[in-house]
Amino acid sequence: MSDQGKRIAVFGAGYVGLVTGACFAELGHTVMVRDVVPERIAALRRGEVPIYEPGLDELLAGNRDRIGFTLDVAEAIDGAEFVYVAVGTPPTFSGDADLSAVWTVVDELPAIDRRIVIAMKSTVPVGTGEKVRHRLDQRGLGHVGYVSNPEFTAEGTAVKDFMEPDRIVIGAFDEADGDAVEELHRGIDAPVVRADVASAEMIKLAANAALMTRISFINEIANVCEATGADVVKVAEGIGHDRRIGKSFLRAGVGFGGSCFPKDSLALKQLAANSGYHFQVLNAVIEVNELQKRRVIGKLTQMLGSLRGKRVALLGLAFKPNTDDTREAPAFVLAGRLLAEGADVVAWDPVAHADGLHGVEQVETVDDAVRGADAVVLVTEWPQLRDVDWPAVAAAMRRPIFVDGRNMLDPDAMRAAGFAYDAVGRAAPPNGSPANS
Ligand code: UGA
Repeated sequence: MSDQGKRIAVFGAGYVGLVTGACFAELGHTVMVRDVVPERIAALRRGEVPIYEPGLDELLAGNRDRIGFTLDVAEAIDGAEFVYVAVGTPPTFSGDADLSAVWTVVDELPAIDRRIVIAMKSTVPVGTGEKVRHRLDQRGLGHVGYVSNPEFTAEGTAVKDFMEPDRIVIGAFDEADGDAVEELHRGIDAPVVRADVASAEMIKLAANAALMTRISFINEIANVCEATGADVVKVAEGIGHDRRIGKSFLRAGVGFGGSCFPKDSLALKQLAANSGYHFQVLNAVIEVNELQKRRVIGKLTQMLGSLRGKRVALLGLAFKPNTDDTREAPAFVLAGRLLAEGADVVAWDPVAHADGLHGVEQVETVDDAVRGADAVVLVTEWPQLRDVDWPAVAAAMRRPIFVDGRNMLDPDAMRAAGFAYDAVGRAAPPNGSPANS
């Protein structure tokens, strides 16, 4: 396939940029990844991968001859036929997406006279492509193409999501540029959705909004289950069999976090508001998620009374398993609330760090976290938690109170292990409720 390989510059060596670069190299293209952080580029050149993403190390190692790393724009662009933009678009104080890194890439492009296509991977507001097109034209770069090619990769499964996607979305101003970007994906078996640029941009935002809506929906169902004696796990199973509803993204828990959902929900809310539309469902989705993260505090207070001086162990800091990413992680909100209530907070996570969580004691093992604790909250469903000797944990705690924030463990087994076990949306049997323990 390498005889058909193209030359691709990728701007941004974060999760999205590295996965995009590594996967394109795997597909036979020659890739140069550019970032502005010298330590990051130096580490990548030494063969060290600065993020935890399953499968990425192997992919980068296996394609070393086809992927390089640089700080230099000219070196990245040299000979490139495509420029992939994979820089961060964090929220500003107003909730709009901060596009300054995107504009820097556009403005730093040298005044090349050959045909080159900019492909946008970063999540951007609808209308961004139009604005970039205008800026390029103003700079006399009318021959530079622009394509929206949003990413749908989830952290922890990003490599698989890129190589085996549900679909590839391509929005182009010029159909030939769209064809060229489609051709880059040769070797990937997936439906290709061709669209105008604005629709491609909206597909990305709408997909994430739909997923978040499902989560907040099932979390509200869970809360009603708690109040009425139903079990949300059974309910999700029951509705998930309906093909019109489907099974995925119906896991109730302590709310969604991460680098995408919270940011993208704000960006879409703001995008709508800026155009004069009040996006009611999305506003509710965001608010339900905020409340969901805080519900655990109410449960702990109900079981323990005042939390002042109580030792609470958090199992998991990452916003989900198989990543070291703690951006907008529910564990951080929980820790903040617990500290504010005067609790002593101890946290365990196999990969993620409590950086920035002042006042939280981070320990290396689950045993160290739970010893002498008044309550344990399972916040991230790390697979290794299935193998913990829970009766021993219950015995080591001062009070065996367990809140399973991800409905990961078997309620009967946990109660048999000696816990006053509470989960999300799983009503306890009449005599086993934590409040009665
Ligand atoms: C998400 C989307 O799943 C990707 O398709 C998208 O490309 C990406 O955002 C992005 O915009 O870049 P990601 O944030 O990595 O990916 O993680 P998810 O697996 O979607 O989980 C997000 C949050 O939702 C986590 O906190 C997770 O615990 C929570 N979640 C997920 C639930 O609470 N319940 C569920 O049923 C599913």
